[in-house]
Amino acid sequence: QADLKSKLLDINKEAAKYFYYQLKTPGGKIALDYLQNRQLSEETIKQFGLGYSNKFSDDLYRYLRGLGYDDSTLKESGLITMDEKKGVFDKFWNRVMFPIMDVNNKVIGFGGRVMGDGLPKYLNSPETKLFDKSRNLYGLNFARISRKKNILICEGYMDVIALHQAGFTNAVASLGTAFTGLQANLLKRYTDEVLITYDSDEAGTKAALRAIPILKAAGLSTKVIDMRPYKDPDEFIKALGAEEFQKRIEEARNSFYFEIDVLEKNYDLSDPEHKTKFYNEIGKKLLVFTEEIERNNYIEAIANRYNIGFDNLRKLVNRYGARLI
Ligand code: UTP
Ligand code: MN
Ligand code: MN
Ligand code: MN
Ligand code: MN
Repeated sequence: QADLKSKLLDINKEAAKYFYYQLKTPGGKIALDYLQNRQLSEETIKQFGLGYSNKFSDDLYRYLRGLGYDDSTLKESGLITMDEKKGVFDKFWNRVMFPIMDVNNKVIGFGGRVMGDGLPKYLNSPETKLFDKSRNLYGLNFARISRKKNILICEGYMDVIALHQAGFTNAVASLGTAFTGLQANLLKRYTDEVLITYDSDEAGTKAALRAIPILKAAGLSTKVIDMRPYKDPDEFIKALGAEEFQKRIEEARNSFYFEIDVLEKNYDLSDPEHKTKFYNEIGKKLLVFTEEIERNNYIEAIANRYNIGFDNLRKLVNRYGARLI
């Protein structure tokens, strides 16, 4: 087992080198152009070990066989697909490649992006003996050397890379999968504060709402960065630059206010019935603060903001609290 794991690590390393080398071949120019069009520097491409899986359907397989790896080991790597009828194929074909590393800089899997509008946009390595998506965060191997006090979590490969290139070396990504408690605990080893930098679309908002309680449960103070009117940090930085992004970091909002803002969108506050329901929802939500001073501080802030009156809102909260007992 330990032997298999170390072989799989070697295979991934060889594959990453192979993909990287392909960028420098005539066939790989299309991928290099793609990365340059996305404004990645040569240095960034090298740091993140980006590469290209070419249009030949089994050359990686043959290359790895040539290095002495047998079929059953190659199958376990997730890089090669073996089908009794269809034969043997490289999993990644004509895609820009992103090696995924663990905190020890070991390549544990890959993501591959189509260069046009094809689907799926990103293809990822399957779970293998090495690769457990729920336990890893993309970019953490580079982020931990940063002395910044907080960590930015974003959605994707390109967000992490664009942020690092712009000097925000504290960015990591949860890679499209739901953020997990294991990932939160991993972050807690490096920081006490997390800034959620997910996409500003509906999917990103929902993902943020799911991540907030998980981060809080791990003891992490949690804020949310507003990316609007841009869709994600990569697009934001391309449009407005690093200085403006730094401002957004400073303006990051307490995750409770973010939750209330999202909730508010479901109600028409000019309608008394809606307004009553909304206030009641707020009252329930305020119960997450179990410590009296903290709860009162939030009651005060929210009451001021919506002109509810501190005593009114506190009564409402206490009423919901009493129901739980
Ligand atoms: P997004 O759809 O937000 O893509 O997915 P993106 O990161 O902004 O990609 P670009 O800028 O168009 O290149 C966020 C992340 O979700 C995962 C990837 O990790 C992606 O970076 N994802 C997305 C997949 O795994 N598969 C997909 O088909 C799409
Ligand atoms: Mn190939
Ligand atoms: Mn997205
Ligand atoms: Mn995105
Ligand atoms: Mn993007």
